[in-house]
Amino acid sequence: MSPNPIVVAPSILSADFSRLGEEIRDVVEAGADWIHVDVMDGHFVPNITIGPDVIKGIRHWTDRPMDVHLMISPVDPFLEAFAQAGCDHIIAHVEAGPHIHRTLQTIGKLGRKVGVTLNPGTPVDHIQSVIGMVDLVLVMSVNPGFGGQAFIPEAIGRVKAIRQMAADRPIRIEVDGGVGPANAGMLAAAGADAFVAGSAVFKGGKDAYRGNIAAIREAAQAGRCG
Ligand code: DX5
Ligand code: ZN
Repeated sequence: MSPNPIVVAPSILSADFSRLGEEIRDVVEAGADWIHVDVMDGHFVPNITIGPDVIKGIRHWTDRPMDVHLMISPVDPFLEAFAQAGCDHIIAHVEAGPHIHRTLQTIGKLGRKVGVTLNPGTPVDHIQSVIGMVDLVLVMSVNPGFGGQAFIPEAIGRVKAIRQMAADRPIRIEVDGGVGPANAGMLAAAGADAFVAGSAVFKGGKDAYRGNIAAIREAAQAGRCG
């Protein structure tokens, strides 16, 4: 079980990109704890999204932590720009290059929370040697690249294994992809404490955001108790 409070992190990949600032304001007003930002390069993943200048532009819309998921390769040359753009958590893929240890060291030296993430096809023991360096592990429960994909149920067992690997370290375990009220309870019971959700938060328009976020949080809390 995680020692940390439950966090819900809406992924702005599912927001209206023509009004990103307002969308961030609205989900924060509706109860978002962190804002999850998906950075894609069309090379590491088959899609292109946003870079540091856009993050700089949206940064002032909230003081909630910006949880930035870098789906880019190479990653090292861009870390400083993302830190300067105002990212609070910088999360790098273990598959993005041969030097994950160096990447995580650099994120720490830049004064940001250190996150590592792994694709659904990557064995969990690939992060074993860096588990002591990180504040956060992001477990991908879809193949990264797109919002709105179906949850891969094997993620639940992977969360459990990583919570065991973390032992008594207060590491956050965050889950990303196809997350919603239907699976948040099982994920929380397995040891997850941060829940990224794009389509499950942004569906139904602004008036639905509060209920959508609450439903994920309540399912996660219930999973912990049950
Ligand atoms: C996928 C991204 C996710 C995505 C989640 O590559 O990392 O953050 O936006 O979207 P949903 O919740 O719709 O699966
Ligand atoms: Zn993501």
